[in-house]
Amino acid sequence: MSDPRPIGVFDSGVGGLTVLRELQRQLPAESTIYFADLGHFPYGPRFQGQVRQFSLRIIRFLEELDVKLVVIACNTATAAALNAARETFDIPIVGVITPGAQAAVQATRNKKIAVISTEGTKQSGEYLHAIKEANPTIGVLPLAAPGLVELVERGQAQSPEAEAALRATLAEIIEYAPDTLILGCTHYPLLRPLIQKVTEGKMTIVDSAHTTAARVARVLAANGLAAANEPARHQIYVTGSPDQFLQTAHILFENALPPIQTVSLELVEQMGSREAVG
Ligand code: DGL
Repeated sequence: MSDPRPIGVFDSGVGGLTVLRELQRQLPAESTIYFADLGHFPYGPRFQGQVRQFSLRIIRFLEELDVKLVVIACNTATAAALNAARETFDIPIVGVITPGAQAAVQATRNKKIAVISTEGTKQSGEYLHAIKEANPTIGVLPLAAPGLVELVERGQAQSPEAEAALRATLAEIIEYAPDTLILGCTHYPLLRPLIQKVTEGKMTIVDSAHTTAARVARVLAANGLAAANEPARHQIYVTGSPDQFLQTAHILFENALPPIQTVSLELVEQMGSREAVG
């Protein structure tokens, strides 16, 4: 049996495109709808309740577009909304925190893992809990990395400003000497070359894109939801202005960038504010 319905994927901006790209690489037969909530970017400094409300509305919007599964391709939104989303919707919902945490637990040898993320993700304690759940003897240093998300969103992931911000953030981590570093924000894989430079290649760098896509593949297969031979179709929706988004999206997808459509925040609110989501 084959299910040609698309997979819904969302983030506050370009970060989730790192997950989308990996999904398309691992699951080429699957169609996708990507939603970037640029009108509410950034999520990191917001209250969890507000990020939860945005997330549930987006999932409702995606559900109206008949997606068969949703990937919350944002750590901040996964921390704030994954449980509530699973309580609210019947379609499978996959977050990015557990897959990344499990990959790091597999990777570490010296039993020290550091996590960089937004303030919201750090405050939630979700990475710490996921790692300790898998192995309580592993030491964890979670750190918020202010400013990095904005630099990436502005297309400055390779800039001297980004290097300076990383040197400041990673100093405490280098001191702690973990052998594994989790990029606990889907924007950070775009900073990977600079992170590798600043950490001098001494840490295994784990991002959730690969492991999340692998988990989606498993969930689709286990539930008879995988697409087979249909030609895949891809679409991007954004709230707010797509100008900056486009620059980084083009770097990631080159000529294969899916068509982009702007939707108003009001429409997403209207579509998403039914029943339990309100
Ligand atoms: N990319 C998101 C994350 O993984 C959120 C960035 C933001 O909007 O602050 O946390």
